[in-house]
Amino acid sequence: MSEPILLNRLTAATLADTASGYGLLANAGLAIESGRISWIGPMQDCPVDIAKLPTHDFEGRLVTPALIDCHTHLVHGGNRAQEFEMRLEGASYEEIARAGGGIVSTVTATRETGENDLLAAALRRVDALIAEGVATVEIKSGYGLDHDTELKMLRVARTVARSRPIHVSTSFLGAHAVPAGANADTYIDDVCIPALTAAHAEGLVDAVDGFCEGIAFDTAQIRRVFEAARALGLPVKLHAEQLSNIGGTALAAEFGALSADHVEYASDADVQALARSGSVAVILPGAFYAIREEQRPPIEAFRKHGVPMAVATDWNPGSSPLGSVLLAMNMACTLFRMTPAEALAGTTRNAARALGLSDRGTLAAGQRADLAIWDVNVPAELSYGIGINPLHKRIFGGVV
Ligand code: NIG
Ligand code: FE
Repeated sequence: MSEPILLNRLTAATLADTASGYGLLANAGLAIESGRISWIGPMQDCPVDIAKLPTHDFEGRLVTPALIDCHTHLVHGGNRAQEFEMRLEGASYEEIARAGGGIVSTVTATRETGENDLLAAALRRVDALIAEGVATVEIKSGYGLDHDTELKMLRVARTVARSRPIHVSTSFLGAHAVPAGANADTYIDDVCIPALTAAHAEGLVDAVDGFCEGIAFDTAQIRRVFEAARALGLPVKLHAEQLSNIGGTALAAEFGALSADHVEYASDADVQALARSGSVAVILPGAFYAIREEQRPPIEAFRKHGVPMAVATDWNPGSSPLGSVLLAMNMACTLFRMTPAEALAGTTRNAARALGLSDRGTLAAGQRADLAIWDVNVPAELSYGIGINPLHKRIFGGVV
């Protein structure tokens, strides 16, 4: 572990105080010891022993918590550029899925791709996120829909974490789509839940996810998956109310889910249920944009009821081939009128919460020293640029 150090002449967006936007500290210093933040504050308050540490001068740059992409499907085979063309010719995302394209076509490609090739493609995607200051990424399974391929995807996700300086949280998403020719109930009981149990036994699962939708699984089927997760002691999250309202958000809230994701069609009652359960609403503007959805998530209701909002890429080959967290932040503001402060909280503090991680996502003593240092004058610039990456330096686990 490297020696204690002090980073000084920073403007810090701490995100530490949920009430006050960015939680800005001018002329700030931040000390790192054993991979953690040991002190942060205005330099004029710097304790004498910390002021004596070896110092890195950041010349007034902005420091934020390193970014967190809390919803991705970035381990997958193939791509679906052809479906992009079909959608431009008028086919909808749902029509393509019902005609045997969509998720199940990526399932075929992912089953056919070997572990090494899946890993190589995933690392290229992860490298793009790292280059934007991401230090924690969530990766889902869900393009296997059989025991071996679901576990293969999760093993690749774990290998990503051993191959790059990044933390990976995995979600088992066996309940992503009904495999071609299968019966949904039989699939859940005979394939999905046994695969979950096996993946958990190998230490491959941090959370359990599902897709609750007319083209995927209903609430009764997702409930069985969530009960299995509960029996294994695993937290749950859910793709809910993306294309219609069929009760997924209420179910997620009932199970105390870490998050309900997409939620374009969530009702006011759903929002209130999330507020009571303390779940995060994960806003995914890339999917909204790419499938040209018109129903916006109820941002104002989330605000009013105090539901924390996260923002993520949903990086996947179908509904959201979006490889930029910064662009997701921009889209959250432009498409959904989130504020730049909400967008940044959405990729730091609230993204950490959506993954059940309390040791990151804010700048405070004791937190992991996962930092992003930016060449910007004000934090709103992070959401304002479109395809602009102002990262100066990413710090992972205190390594400068
Ligand atoms: O988050 N909604 C379901 N799952 C993905 C889509 C995956 C795909 O189209 O391949 C999503 O949008
Ligand atoms: Fe998704």
